[in-house]
Amino acid sequence: MPASRRGSGSVTLPTGQTLAIHTRTHDEEDLPHATKKTMADHLRKYESLFTLTPQRMRIIAEAFKETLELGLTKPGQVVPMIPTFVFGWPSGKETGDFLALDLGGTNLRVCLVTLQGSGQFEITQSKYRLSEEQKNGDGQKLFDFCAECLKTFVETNIGSDDEGPIKDGHHLPLGFTFSYPCSQERIDHGELIRWTKGINVANTEGHDVAAMFATSLAKYQLPIKLTALINDTTGTLIASHYVNPRTKIAVIFGTGCNAAYMEHIKDIEKIKHLGIDPKAEMAINCEWGAFDSFEHEHLPRTKYDTIVDESSNKPGEQAFEKLISGRYLGEILRLVICELIDEGVLFLGQNTYKLENPYCFDTAFLSLMESDPTDELLMIIGIFTHFFALETTLAERQFFRALAKLIGRRAARLSACGIAAIVGKMGYLDEGCSVGADGSLYNKYPGFADRVHEGLFDIFGEKGRNIITHHAEDGSGVGSAIIAAMTKIRKDAGLYANV
Ligand code: BGC
Repeated sequence: MPASRRGSGSVTLPTGQTLAIHTRTHDEEDLPHATKKTMADHLRKYESLFTLTPQRMRIIAEAFKETLELGLTKPGQVVPMIPTFVFGWPSGKETGDFLALDLGGTNLRVCLVTLQGSGQFEITQSKYRLSEEQKNGDGQKLFDFCAECLKTFVETNIGSDDEGPIKDGHHLPLGFTFSYPCSQERIDHGELIRWTKGINVANTEGHDVAAMFATSLAKYQLPIKLTALINDTTGTLIASHYVNPRTKIAVIFGTGCNAAYMEHIKDIEKIKHLGIDPKAEMAINCEWGAFDSFEHEHLPRTKYDTIVDESSNKPGEQAFEKLISGRYLGEILRLVICELIDEGVLFLGQNTYKLENPYCFDTAFLSLMESDPTDELLMIIGIFTHFFALETTLAERQFFRALAKLIGRRAARLSACGIAAIVGKMGYLDEGCSVGADGSLYNKYPGFADRVHEGLFDIFGEKGRNIITHHAEDGSGVGSAIIAAMTKIRKDAGLYANV
C-alpha cells in the first residue's frame, strides 16, 4: 500500500463559496509505479483522441467554408446561413429610446437602451429567471411570460406620461433577441427551425415566433412594437461594430455556439428574387453549430461525443456545437471519467454514484480545474469532495486537469476552424479584422481566447495573427436596440420597407 496522508481544510471558489475538503492525498512518489504508468498511458490515449493537428484543422476549415457557401445558395441547408434583413453597418449616429428583450436559456432580460449617437448609449435593465416549467412547457405561455415581464418593466422604469419615451398613442420600438435558429422572410418574422441548447418548449418549432410574441404583446395591451427579431450573434456583430468599426465577424461561445458576419447581397444567391441592390450588404446568421450534423463527415468525433449526441434530446443535430459549447464540455469529461471508473482505474473502493448523473459535471469545473494555482491542486480536491463525495490522489487530479485541458483546447481549436472558414470566404486575412466574441466559455474559460488565436496561427501561419478576437459589446441588449433603430430609420425612409 502506498503511504497516504489524511488532510482537511477548505478551498474558496471564485464565486465566494467555501468548500470544506477532507482527502486522502498520496504524494506522487508514494504511488506504486504501475499506477503512475497507467494514468500516463491513459492520458496518452486521450491526447491522441482529442488533439487536432494544424493539417486536420486546415481540412476542417476548408470543408466548413464550402458548407457556408452552400448555405447561401439555397434554403434548407444543414448550415442554414440565415439572411437577417439587417442591412449593413450602423452609422453610429442612431439615437432614441429602444426596448430590447433577450430570451436566453436561463434568464429573460428586459432593457431600455437610450442611444445617444457617436457610439454612446445608456442602459437600464432587469432580469427574470425562467423556471424549468417554462423551459419545458408551451410556447405561447413562454411568450405570455415575456409580455408580462415587459409590462412590469415598463410600469416600473418607464411609465406612460407625456414626458417619458412612451407618449400618448406612440409605440416604443423593440428588438427581440431570440437566440435559436429561425428562418426569416422579413426582419420582424422568424420561423423557429429547431430548439437548441436543450430547450424543449412545445408548439413552437415551425411557428413564426415573432407573430406568437406579437399575440402576447396584444394580450397585455402593451404600447410596444416588435421592430426586429434578431439572433444574439447578429446583435453582437452590430453592437461590436458600433464601438469598434474594425469588427467584421461576431461569435458566441456560451451554452450554445454560433457566428454572424456581413455578406454582399450579390453573393446571397437564395434571396436574388427579392431584387435588393446587389451592392448592398446584409448580416448573415450562420447557425454554424449545425455544421456536420447528421452526416458526420468532417469533425473528429470521439465515442464520448457520440454518446453526448445520441443521449441528447436532439440526436444528430448541432454536431459542431456539441463539441464546443459550454453545455457539453463538462459532460464529455464526465463520460471519460465514468469509462475509467468502469475499467477499474479511478476511485477504487469509493462510491461513485454521484458522478453517474448525466450533466452533473458542470463546464465551470473544467475552468476551475485548469486555473487551479496550487501544487496540490486544492481546487480539484474541493470539487470532487464537495460535489461528488470522492477523494482523489494527486496523480488523479493531475490527470483530470490534463483532460480538461485537452477538451477545452479542442473546443477552442475547432472554434478557430469556424472563424477561419468565414475569414477565408470573405478574404479578410491580408487586411485582418476584429472578431467580437461573447459567451461564458470565451469570457470565463482560462486561455480560451489564446487557444483560438493559436489555432488561427496554426491554420494560416503568420497572417493568422491579423485576426484578433476581443470581448464584444452586449449584443443581445445594446445590439438589439441598435438594430431596432437601424430598422426604424430604414423603414421610415421607405427602403425595402416590406422586409
Ligand atoms: C443557437 C444560436 C445561438 C447560439 C448562441 C445556438 O444553440 O442555435 O441561434 O446564436 O446558440 O447563443
